[in-house]
Amino acid sequence: MRAIVSDRYGSLDVLQLKDIERPRPGPGEVAVRVRAAGVDPSIWHLTSGQPYLIRLLGFGLRRPRRLVPGLDLAGTIEEIGPGVTDLRPGDEVFGTADGSFAEYAIAKASRVVAKPANLAFDQAAAVPVSACTALKGLLSVQSGQRLLVIGAGGGVGSYAVQLAKARQAHVTGVCSTAKTDLVKMLGADEIVDYKRESITGRYDVILDTAGDRPLSQLRQHLSPKGTLVIVGGEGGGKLVGSVARTLRAALLSPFVSHQLKGLIATAENPADLLELKRLIAEGAVTPVLDRTFPLAEAVAAIRYVQQGHARGKVVVTL
Ligand SMILES: NC(=O)c1ccc[n+]([C@@H]2O[C@H](COP(=O)([O-])OP(=O)(O)OC[C@H]3O[C@@H](n4cnc5c(N)ncnc54)[C@H](OP(=O)(O)O)[C@@H]3O)[C@@H](O)[C@H]2O)c1
Repeated sequence: MRAIVSDRYGSLDVLQLKDIERPRPGPGEVAVRVRAAGVDPSIWHLTSGQPYLIRLLGFGLRRPRRLVPGLDLAGTIEEIGPGVTDLRPGDEVFGTADGSFAEYAIAKASRVVAKPANLAFDQAAAVPVSACTALKGLLSVQSGQRLLVIGAGGGVGSYAVQLAKARQAHVTGVCSTAKTDLVKMLGADEIVDYKRESITGRYDVILDTAGDRPLSQLRQHLSPKGTLVIVGGEGGGKLVGSVARTLRAALLSPFVSHQLKGLIATAENPADLLELKRLIAEGAVTPVLDRTFPLAEAVAAIRYVQQGHARGKVVVTL
């Protein structure tokens, strides 16, 4: 089968399109014929092995533990492994697998669910990692609360705005000038165009997905008992990257009135995928697709996301 592979850490040039053996599902696993694979910033971090901290977290010390990158997928079940009872060959699914940048990927049966009927494969592949992350980041958000989403036009942010509006929060989205129309269309009540103006006001919850703003600056915009949820950002050094800010937040949180926390999201929870599927069916959430790239141009897709200004999601199609 055709797959994008890399057997060493390095720049995106280490990724190559190759013919490799098709994987077979083991117990509790399914083989998915991949029709589309979502791209997110973790892919180029795992390709480069930077920040170095990720090498210590089980992704491979000297070389990537996974030959094929890619996590999000949408496709059709090709084969089921022993013990899988709730999925059948031919089922259209979406979810996550290790190595979705390939014609076939092996997923744990618990990591995929039936694809939303109202989404095409490329739209469905744009959902799992980013939307599950947004869902987890908004756990504490309630109706009427004031929420600030930093990076509101990006992969996670575009879902966060829609999910928060579905919960009837008052949403202010922070984005660049080029995305103000998009973020308004997603339902934001107010926009901060960070290229032209500064953040003002106070918020019950800040969901920070971009920009690496200092904790002290973010805390100025929290209500007295407000919550800061750090999803990510591309700052920091080669050693720990933006995790440094998350660690500082965790250390500071017990000593201040604000709740400061970092988010580690996994897309393995089928309950989250089913909740998203319900919201998608109701029309409350719609994936925003910036661009799609064929598998042969997967490196260009990852590079586009690496530049940090994607408008919603980027997807590789097969
Ligand atoms: N903790 C977790 O489990 C988890 C899960 C998923 C992702 N992440 C991390 O979360 C971050 C966001 O992921 P993503 O998929 O949403 O990335 P993305 O699609 O690249 O979106 C980032 C967005 O941030 C905006 N942005 C850039 N600089 C900004 C600034 N100074 N202020 C405000 N907005 C700015 C960009 O748009 P503009 O053109 O408007 O600048 C872009 O739309 C990444 O660091 C990723 O690694 C963490």
